[in-house]
Amino acid sequence: MSSSANFSNIYKSYDFINKILTLGYDTVWRKKAVDLIIGKKILDLGSGTGALFNLMSEFEVTAVDPDENMLKLNKFKKKLVSKAEYLPFEDNSFDSVICTFVWRNLDDTNKALDEIRRVLKPDGKFILLDMTRPKNKFLTLIHFFGTFIVTLLIGIMTLNLKEYQFLHKSLDKYSQPENDLTNNPFKTFKIYRMGIFGFVYLAEFTG
Ligand SMILES: C[S@@+](CC[C@H](N)C(=O)[O-])C[C@H]1O[C@@H](n2cnc3c(N)ncnc32)[C@H](O)[C@@H]1O
Repeated sequence: MSSSANFSNIYKSYDFINKILTLGYDTVWRKKAVDLIIGKKILDLGSGTGALFNLMSEFEVTAVDPDENMLKLNKFKKKLVSKAEYLPFEDNSFDSVICTFVWRNLDDTNKALDEIRRVLKPDGKFILLDMTRPKNKFLTLIHFFGTFIVTLLIGIMTLNLKEYQFLHKSLDKYSQPENDLTNNPFKTFKIYRMGIFGFVYLAEFTG
C-alpha cells in the first residue's frame, strides 16, 4: 500500500464520491475555510479538480497540485504541477494559503509547513481543512468501522478499492491535529472541530 492515494485513477469520479462520503457537507466546511482567508493573493494548495473555484471568485488564486489529471478538470486560470513540500514560489508571495482535504496525503508535513510559511507574507494566514478521527476513543471506534464499510462499498462499486481504502487508512496516518500540528513555524494556531463526532477540523495559522 503506497503512502498516498493515486488520484489519477479516481479523478473523474472524485467530486461526486466526495459529496456522498461527506453527505454534501464538504461545501459547508469549504465555505468556513474560505471565510477565514485574508488578502487577495491566494495559493490553493492541493487544489485537485478545483473544488474551491465557485467560492473564490473574488480572489487571485494560484492552484497547485502534483496530479496533472486532477488539474485538467480545474477551472482556476493559474495552475501549476507541484507539491506542498517544494513550492516553486519566491518568499512572501501570498496573503493566504488554503489547503482542503490534502494534508493526509503529504509525506513530509514539517517540510510543507516550512514551505507554506516561507511563501506567505509575514502576517499571512494558512488555513487547513481536513478529516481525522474523533477525539473520543469510543466514537473513534464507531467512526473507524463506519469509514471502513463506506469506503469498501464505494471502492467495490467504482472498481477503485485500493484508492478508497487509502482514504479510510489515511485517517489514522497522523495523530490528532491538536497534537500533531503543535510544532509549526507560525506565531498563533487555532483548531475548530466540525462534522459528526468532530471528525473534520479547520486549523488557522497566523503570522
Ligand atoms: C482529496 S483531494 C482534495 C482536492 C481539493 N483540495 C478539494 O478540496 O477537493 C487531495 C489532493 O491532494 C493532492 N496531493 C497529493 N499529494 C500532494 C502533495 N504532496 N502536495 C500537494 N498536493 C498533494 C492530490 O493530487 C489531490 O488532488
